[in-house]
Amino acid sequence: MISFSVAMEPDKGIGIRGSLPWHLKEELQLFKSNTLYKNIVMGQTTYDNLPRKLKDRYITVVSIDPEYKAEDVEVENDLISFLKRHENDETEYIICGGASIYRQAYPYCKKAYVSFVKEPYETDTRFECFDLDDWNIVKEVNYPDFVYRELERKE
Ligand SMILES: NC(=O)c1ccc[n+]([C@@H]2O[C@H](COP(=O)([O-])OP(=O)(O)OC[C@H]3O[C@@H](n4cnc5c(N)ncnc54)[C@H](OP(=O)(O)O)[C@@H]3O)[C@@H](O)[C@H]2O)c1
Repeated sequence: MISFSVAMEPDKGIGIRGSLPWHLKEELQLFKSNTLYKNIVMGQTTYDNLPRKLKDRYITVVSIDPEYKAEDVEVENDLISFLKRHENDETEYIICGGASIYRQAYPYCKKAYVSFVKEPYETDTRFECFDLDDWNIVKEVNYPDFVYRELERKE
């Protein structure tokens, strides 16, 4: 099963200059608890810009570069064949961005962990194709700076 985890501001902005536009401690803690000891998948740009290593997660980095290597991660050169290979697995693979990976993976995702950041931020990267109408909300928690929702794709 393929799912995704994202934080986005009201205009679907998710990043600026290769990083997150905000620093929301509770959101980072939520990301950690949702992904710990799970399989996570992220684009090379996102992975290379992480402020620190993500421990205790099985990480796949998607890169078009056949020479790309990084410590303690699997590298996948073809995202679409990865998605096709795993979409019907019982094991969950959580797509963790960035924009180009979300866009390509979106049709394959059956579940989502989304933090809706309340304030608008300046961004240069958006999750354009995300549409809340595609999803049923199965869990909702209100935090001071964001609303966290777990979503399941409508049949
Ligand atoms: N708010 C959030 O929750 C969140 C989460 C994650 C990331 N972000 C933000 O998103 C931004 C980064 O997004 P991005 O779109 O620039 O980069 P990205 O999605 O992280 O990485 C793109 C990388 O994946 C490669 N790639 C793309 N499609 C591929 C495919 N089908 N097969 C193999 N490799 C493929 C690209 O190669 P090419 O360059 O050759 O196409 C590039 O190296 C940052 O600002 C980051 O902070 C936000």
